[in-house]
Amino acid sequence: MVRVTNLRKHFNGHKVLAGINFRVRKGEAVALIGPSGSGKTTLIRTINGFVIPDAGTIAVGGQEIKYRNPESLRQARKKIGMIYQLFNLVERTSVQVNVMAGALGRLDRGLSLLSSTLGFFTRQEREKARELLGFVGLEDKVRERVDRLSGGQKQRVAIARALMQEPELLLADEPIANLDPKASKKIMELLLRINQEKKITLITVLHHLDSVRDHFGRVIALKEGAICFDAATRTLNDHRVQDIYSIEEEFACVAAQAGSI
Ligand SMILES: Nc1ncnc2c1ncn2[C@@H]1O[C@H](COP(=O)(O)OP(=O)(O)OP(=O)(O)O)[C@@H](O)[C@H]1O
Ligand SMILES: [Mg+2]
Repeated sequence: MVRVTNLRKHFNGHKVLAGINFRVRKGEAVALIGPSGSGKTTLIRTINGFVIPDAGTIAVGGQEIKYRNPESLRQARKKIGMIYQLFNLVERTSVQVNVMAGALGRLDRGLSLLSSTLGFFTRQEREKARELLGFVGLEDKVRERVDRLSGGQKQRVAIARALMQEPELLLADEPIANLDPKASKKIMELLLRINQEKKITLITVLHHLDSVRDHFGRVIALKEGAICFDAATRTLNDHRVQDIYSIEEEFACVAAQAGSI
């Protein structure tokens, strides 16, 4: 479903992705971890086409992304739903309109057109948005304005919006970083339910190792732009966690690619 080959990226002479290789199978759920600045967001943004790599390739659904080709980027983004830490919703608009914006396929276009698209959506899209809001447990909030919702509810709106797009791949960048433990648990359960019931491949950047252990069978860890660990979560013991998060050189990636699954 996702194939990343020899991916490299630097910003201002600083190496951020230093030759990344991994594959994620269709329907798999993978947690992406690593210290702050290790390149997780950059990797996610390269997969969804917002960062152009210096070298290497990414294929989504068997099709390599051609970063200089707008049609190729559009095709890739159509397959990918994004979930962010800060939800990225239009706060002063209704829940339903935010969800329907997902139907526009491309988030950036959707948001800029939003104010002029209030009457633009088809009846089918309205019904689908309602159905998805039911799926995420917000059937009673369809007409509510987003700025009246709690953080957990906002993230559920963002998830419904991503599903509206009918993605094959869901990328979530720290989806629970701004939520309390109870809301975090609900959001993680919802993401995993989507992965299992709708067979949507899921890659989630997480800082909470407890959530990683509770929900994911496979973990990929980045450290200084390189994959430091890519294996079954049950093999992520304390020593390996120390390797991943330690800043001491002697620990650098001793568990590299341990028994990659
Ligand atoms: N657009 C950019 N321009 C310049 N430098 C950037 C840019 N995006 C990221 N970086 C740098 O690349 C490095 C990796 O950043 P990235 O956001 O990918 O890390 P991260 O693993 O997501 O960290 P965090 O856990 O804090 O979110 C950092 O040093 C960051 O400053
Ligand atoms: Mg990040």
